Amino acid sequence: MVKSSEVSGFYKKPVEERLKFIQEFACLTDEEVATLRNTGGLPMGTAEKMIENVVGGLTLPMGIGVNFRINGKDVLVPMVIEEPSVVAAASNAAKMARARGGFSADFSGPVMIAQIQLVDVPDPFKASEIILSRKKDILELAAKQDPVLLQAGGGPRDMEVRLLDTKMGPMVITHLLVDTRDAMGANAVNTMAEAVAPLIEQMTGGRVYLRILSNLAVHRLARAKAIFERDVIGGEAVVDGILNASAFAEADPFRAATHNKGVMNGISSVVLATGNDTRAIEAGAHSYAARNGRYTSLTTYEKDADGNLVGSIEVPMAVGIVGGATKTHPVARIALKIMDIKSASELAQIIACVGLAQNFAALRALATEGIQRGHMGLHARNVAISAGASGELVEKIAERMVKEGKVRADRAKELLAEYAHK
Ligand code: MEV
Repeated sequence: MVKSSEVSGFYKKPVEERLKFIQEFACLTDEEVATLRNTGGLPMGTAEKMIENVVGGLTLPMGIGVNFRINGKDVLVPMVIEEPSVVAAASNAAKMARARGGFSADFSGPVMIAQIQLVDVPDPFKASEIILSRKKDILELAAKQDPVLLQAGGGPRDMEVRLLDTKMGPMVITHLLVDTRDAMGANAVNTMAEAVAPLIEQMTGGRVYLRILSNLAVHRLARAKAIFERDVIGGEAVVDGILNASAFAEADPFRAATHNKGVMNGISSVVLATGNDTRAIEAGAHSYAARNGRYTSLTTYEKDADGNLVGSIEVPMAVGIVGGATKTHPVARIALKIMDIKSASELAQIIACVGLAQNFAALRALATEGIQRGHMGLHARNVAISAGASGELVEKIAERMVKEGKVRADRAKELLAEYAHK
């Protein structure tokens, strides 16, 4: 029988029925279904309200980035990630930064952009002038959409109008700049964009299509900086190695992609731990890295007069602490509590510091012994577990494989068999 994935009203079925359906469809064992059903720190009832068609949860490890000192305050940073070495590397970098007081960070403020796309205007210049001349009316109408945000001290702050030449003809793009305070603000700014669109159509005679936020959040920048003392990080050769690695990333998009991936190892793991939208942050970071027309590094490094390494980062950081999963996911709430976060601005600054720490750690490893030595120990444990090892055999087999320089599934299986016969 050919199986069909077409199900009507799947979203209406109770979780147990959905599980039954996929169990039959995919021939899952009862044990596999039980594993799916176990949603860990997120109750099934909450999971079901977060997205559609829920059948379970996937728990990733949360590790704590230690040693972080940010703007004079010590912080423990929850990081959720599947990749070994990331938490250890960030913690190690944060420890080295402490010699010079840790990280300093700031935030430009939580101003989000909403775009309104206007087409079919006979005179785009005239249309943009009209829109600008009615800025007060447009911002007032936008403000009316969110009294709660206004009460919290946020709301529309300004407006920009841009002319675009596209293959579909000229377009007039209005940006609403909205202070979203402690919210990520997607809902708030999208609602505002939708609300002012008819007014823009009416005043220009054009037609609005898209009304949606931009993830290139250039008015919502987090910045962090740290001085890594030359002798703490391994001497002049390490400083020069990192400067060369950084120059490579600045000059080459192929390298910059990997360099920034390392930055995002740190950033996305904290974004995820706090229930924020990793895709939004990633889209913002990578588009910001390409804002001058060529994709480049998100971090910069310099040598100071004493030969120390000064690292810095600037990255859009549209994170919130009040809405969505940050509020509903119990583990995300605990993550915020661990960091003692009182505002989205504080969270954005911590995340930027972790991104910088992660990048520094990666460059330091790459410019010296290479990344593999550190990675291999942890990787070897995963290989041993995948081969079927458990208990103390995991460590024994991993150690043997690393020593032999053969961290491979086939070798793990051989060693497992060897130990089984002992
Ligand atoms: C691996 O997840 C991240 C690195 O590749 C980053 C880098 O190359 O800078 C190590």
